[in-house]
Amino acid sequence: MSFFLRSQLHDSDPAVHNLLSQEVDRQNDGLELIASENFVSRSVMQAMGTPLTNKYAEGLPGKRYYGGCQVVDEVEDVARQRACELFRCDWVNVQPHSGASANAAVYLTLMKPGDTFLGLDLAHGGHLTHGSPVNFSGILYKAQYYGVDKDGPMAGRIDMNKVREKALAIRPRMISIGASAYSRDFDYAAFRSIADEVGAFLWMDMAHTAGLIAARVLNDPLPHCHIVSTTTHKTLRGPRSGMLLIGKDAENTMGKVAPKSGRVKMWSELFDSSVFPGMQGGPLMHVIAAKAVAFGEALQEDFNSYSRQVVANAAAMTEAFLERGYAVVSGGTDNHLALIDLRNKGVTGKQAEEALQAADITVNKNMVPYDVESPFVTSGIRVGTPAMTTRGLNENDFRDIVDLMDRVITNPANETVIQQVKGAIHEMTARFPMYDFVTA
Ligand SMILES: Cc1ncc(COP(=O)(O)O)c(C=O)c1O
Repeated sequence: MSFFLRSQLHDSDPAVHNLLSQEVDRQNDGLELIASENFVSRSVMQAMGTPLTNKYAEGLPGKRYYGGCQVVDEVEDVARQRACELFRCDWVNVQPHSGASANAAVYLTLMKPGDTFLGLDLAHGGHLTHGSPVNFSGILYKAQYYGVDKDGPMAGRIDMNKVREKALAIRPRMISIGASAYSRDFDYAAFRSIADEVGAFLWMDMAHTAGLIAARVLNDPLPHCHIVSTTTHKTLRGPRSGMLLIGKDAENTMGKVAPKSGRVKMWSELFDSSVFPGMQGGPLMHVIAAKAVAFGEALQEDFNSYSRQVVANAAAMTEAFLERGYAVVSGGTDNHLALIDLRNKGVTGKQAEEALQAADITVNKNMVPYDVESPFVTSGIRVGTPAMTTRGLNENDFRDIVDLMDRVITNPANETVIQQVKGAIHEMTARFPMYDFVTA
């Protein structure tokens, strides 16, 4: 039995170990430009690979349904305290397993099935959990959308006057902000004023931009929103997971009271109950430990300079695309990503993604606003800088990357060009060494 408990993966399961090794090679050698990905530190991975995975801890620190939680209580408290410090907020719940789970808890708290909410159109950069007909958010609730302008001075951007008009017309119970493919910052004060005018709750899903918000590189939603949700693995550079946050906790305005005393419950209590027992069982304590480590890292001054570099690199990359005659949705970027419209280059997003992948450059095809192609083909690609900035690349490297990408996109069927670019990419990534281990 002790061998079973102490076995090393490369001995006990060479097949899986070999696959993990291949993936580490892929990450080391290739150029990772997927805007929602990042590379975590070995410390974050080490926290995940611990016996905390064995522990059941339903409930919250000090109020668990299982014994033996004295240590994991402290771990969760460290994660919560660090997150509150990082986001300058009153309350967090670090238990959601993912961004989608955190969002489920938002709907469960604020909406009843059939209620209407207003969010960013999925075809204009919104996320699946913001009302897609194949997602619970679109199945259980009535999703209505605001979008970005097609042309004119606000092309590719959200016009707050139009958001207000739509909100006044449909009177939603909730307005959501946040996106997966929107390169501009949000005007949270304007959203809050619209929400107040129509009597709606305001929710920001900052999954993509949380790290940039923590580092104060982007506007802060917390003072303006009733609830903020996030993932922890994108710009925030933690383990794959989710979290909920409230800037200033207060008594809820939905009339929810404690059953015995009649005390009006705080918003935080409602969201805590929606996470557990509302939509999850036991929290992943090993992942919560890894979140604590990542939040500790994000509290270091280094993280602010990293975040500024992420944005500087995205700006340099976008300019380089514009210089080469590419159309960039909204004409630029405020954050870590850009949406490149390939229609004037005669290739689809799918063709570009595949050709770039053959050169070991990983991007994702993406719909551009008002796209006529299907989501499986698309007219654009989404590019992002968080992962390669973690490896140490700067503005000049990103200009070189655009040069290499341009060669592939304009010659998607030319095997010689693709092999030349692949060689140049491997030379570049070798200059920025990363993981020298398979298991942390
Ligand atoms: C805006 C937004 N919300 C939520 C999510 C879902 O996060 P997860 O994949 O952790 O469920 C994503 C992921 O891409 C996202 O971009």
